[in-house]
Amino acid sequence: MTVHIGAASGEIAQTVLMPGDPYRARWASETFLDGARLVNEVRGMLGYTGTYKGHPVTIQGSGMGMPSLSIYANELMTEYDAQTLIRIGSCGGMQPHVGIRDVIIAMSASTITSPSSGIFREVNFAPTADYGLLAAAVNAAERKGTTTHVGGIYSSDVFYAERPDLDEQMVRHGILGVEMEAAELYTLAARHKRRALAILTVSDHLQTGEALPAADREQSFGDMVEIALEAAFAG
Ligand code: HPA
Repeated sequence: MTVHIGAASGEIAQTVLMPGDPYRARWASETFLDGARLVNEVRGMLGYTGTYKGHPVTIQGSGMGMPSLSIYANELMTEYDAQTLIRIGSCGGMQPHVGIRDVIIAMSASTITSPSSGIFREVNFAPTADYGLLAAAVNAAERKGTTTHVGGIYSSDVFYAERPDLDEQMVRHGILGVEMEAAELYTLAARHKRRALAILTVSDHLQTGEALPAADREQSFGDMVEIALEAAFAG
């Protein structure tokens, strides 16, 4: 048990999927895991542990934004021995060739600030995915036939941004999509020598203004969960 996670030691698997939304943690566990059982409900941030093709997996909500994800990822890494952490979430598309429902596999996550910015100070640290996980996810996505883009994303601190110039610079530099968590996950994984990856479904598009209807979100989200689970246990 930690400050924010009520699971006993041993109740959290070494492989953890992290959706932002705790209800998606419940849905993904019920849909994709065998024998899933609730292991955390502190603050309603639901976490479930079960198995996927016989491998133990925990699906734990992270909440929205880097400060929230940072709490759960820190405790999972330092107090529960999580070794592989995959964010499964949504993002806003930023390039014309990135469509609604497409999947983005994030090679790097640029950010203006993060909970760890105090450590790096004047250095622009480059938060980067684990290459083995990334390659395995690309393979899994190709096998499923999912339209997938691999490249850099932007982890913002605000959903309702007041700096359109920042978005413009991201678009200009080829950033595929914007979300609010991956940079901190990658930074913590680097610090604690764990494997991390963010796989994202494009739920809205900053340039076209399109948004995924609520009813369609589940199916699109499902492809991403399966890609994450296949990547976690590849090879
Ligand atoms: N901005 C930030 N985070 C997001 C977005 C967005 O447009 N869409 C989904 N997560």
